[in-house]
Amino acid sequence: MPLPKAELHLHIEGTLEPELAFALAVRNGVTLPYADTDALREAYRFQDLQSFLDLYYGLMTVLRTEADFEELADAYLARAAAQGVRHAEIFFDPQAHTARGVDIGTVVEGLGRALDRARERHGVTTRLILCFLRDQSAESALETLEAAEPYLHRITGVGLDSAEVGHPPRKFAAVYEAAAALGLRRVAHAGEEGPADYVREALDVLGVERVDHGLRCVEDADLVARLVRDRVPLTLCPLSNVRLRAVDVLEEHPLPRMMDAGLLCTVNSDDPAYFGGYVEDNFAAVRQALGLGEERLRELARNSFEAAFLDDDEALRAAYLAEVEAYTFP
Ligand code: ADE
Ligand code: ZN
Repeated sequence: MPLPKAELHLHIEGTLEPELAFALAVRNGVTLPYADTDALREAYRFQDLQSFLDLYYGLMTVLRTEADFEELADAYLARAAAQGVRHAEIFFDPQAHTARGVDIGTVVEGLGRALDRARERHGVTTRLILCFLRDQSAESALETLEAAEPYLHRITGVGLDSAEVGHPPRKFAAVYEAAAALGLRRVAHAGEEGPADYVREALDVLGVERVDHGLRCVEDADLVARLVRDRVPLTLCPLSNVRLRAVDVLEEHPLPRMMDAGLLCTVNSDDPAYFGGYVEDNFAAVRQALGLGEERLRELARNSFEAAFLDDDEALRAAYLAEVEAYTFP
């Protein structure tokens, strides 16, 4: 049995495996510009975040009905459970779907159908986090939040993703203020390709409680000291960082230095269908490449539950933390 953990940085659209993409393409009469799954996998040689996003947005056009989103989420939950995930906080990108005529209700209700059964079927508790696309306008983000209002009972928080550089957090100050007023939790991608200053701005201007990636905080000692002092969780995604060339090779990933500095690090899979593995694959890869010992791995698992949005069920958080402490490595 793998180490029990929470996954806090996972784009549900990034769990679309080539086989399911082709099956949905047939079902929905969508023509994909790849001959087969092997040809599609061949295209997974990314130069940077943008080259990945181009493929990611292109492939998700096969997702059209509630049943498609339900199937996508259910397949992720099954894989996640097999990798030791006990709790998953799942991002989704409504604008990527509404822009091509798929209603936000179709997306949320479809995902919701799978999430409603997740505990019973897979032993995984879940939260849903609505992400705004930062390369779209601030007005579009506000319209998206408005469109989500009938579904807020299913949504725990908001996030910010897509192309980072040139789209600083402050562009989204108004929609984050509106989200906070609605009682939503706030996270944002920052410091993946963008500078350390974007991490600071996400904290100061957007009021985020967790930073997604946050990798480039290491370039700013004052920022690191603040993140340590305030125990701001970082949701790191090591295999993603290698595939999108945020780091050259996994052996050079700053994770061990970040943990040594006292940062509250978690390890996550980001877009596992594209980056070569799910969350336990990320744990195994950092264990191997960075020589993390068992207590470091346990610390990462503990951090994941401490950083989870489980404030409405502290008994559950305590139960998960107890599982982490009781775990014996094989
Ligand atoms: N959308 C999906 N994956 C992403 C990532 N790693 N960074 C920014 N936006 C994303
Ligand atoms: Zn991400």
